[in-house]
Amino acid sequence: MGKWDRYSVLNEAMQIRSNLPETRLMSEENLWELLAKYGTVILKPQAASGGVGVMVVSSEGNDRFVIQVKLKKQIVAKSDLYPWLTREILQDFAPFIPIKEIDSVLAGSYIIQYRIPLAEIDGCPFDIRVMVQRKADSPWTVTGKLAKLASSGFAITNVNLGAVILPVEIALQRVHALKDLPHQALLAELDRVALLATEQLHQHYQIHVVGYDLCLDNQGKVWIIEANFSPHDHIFLELEDKTMYATIQKFR
Ligand SMILES: Nc1ncnc2c1ncn2[C@@H]1O[C@H](COP(=O)(O)OP(=O)(O)O)[C@@H](O)[C@H]1O
Ligand SMILES: [Mg+2]
Repeated sequence: MGKWDRYSVLNEAMQIRSNLPETRLMSEENLWELLAKYGTVILKPQAASGGVGVMVVSSEGNDRFVIQVKLKKQIVAKSDLYPWLTREILQDFAPFIPIKEIDSVLAGSYIIQYRIPLAEIDGCPFDIRVMVQRKADSPWTVTGKLAKLASSGFAITNVNLGAVILPVEIALQRVHALKDLPHQALLAELDRVALLATEQLHQHYQIHVVGYDLCLDNQGKVWIIEANFSPHDHIFLELEDKTMYATIQKFR
């Protein structure tokens, strides 16, 4: 239960709890509760990566809901939503799962999370990869940061789905909603949250590197989307300036 376990560990740390989007295991009750509370939620597979299987569900009023998977949007009636999502999650395995085990299989396979309204550039959301590393017993260090700007029409910012890589400073300059906030302070806050989260994670996991997906909302608040323990370095090669890539390599 990868994503749920890591969320639960992070959520134990008082100092970063407010930076975490509320998260639950997949169940019908949790789905309706979080939809009622937030209007839009995101469903993510526990174990996959690269945006695979991620679904954004929004309440449209009149008992109608929009489900977005990659570029495809589908409108379903309230009574169809949970069966639709269940089918999508279980896919071809459904006939082989005993009825009484379906709920635990769903909870084990997916989480439901508050969908953070990510800050946007020209209508496209972006998030920020922050690399935290250490060598032996040296202090944890932020070794690199970059912005991933979603491809047009996507609600998610995975690079394998066409997101464009930008220096974080350039991304911040292009966000209208953040133009009056001090960017240096936002950058420092990203580092602070990533380092606090790492202090917490490393008490529970044997790790030497964490690649965070953090994001900012329109108020400049930093949120933790997820923590990857096997992040790819090569996305940093897409930055013109290779300094961060070199630093990351030095810590490997
Ligand atoms: N709670 C959330 N609110 C808004 N966007 C999210 C949220 N969780 C994920 N996303 C978007 O979906 C992408 C993929 O989710 P993530 O948790 O990073 O899973 P994966 O392991 O597939 O990369 C993120 O990079 C982000 O763009
Ligand atoms: Mg991710």
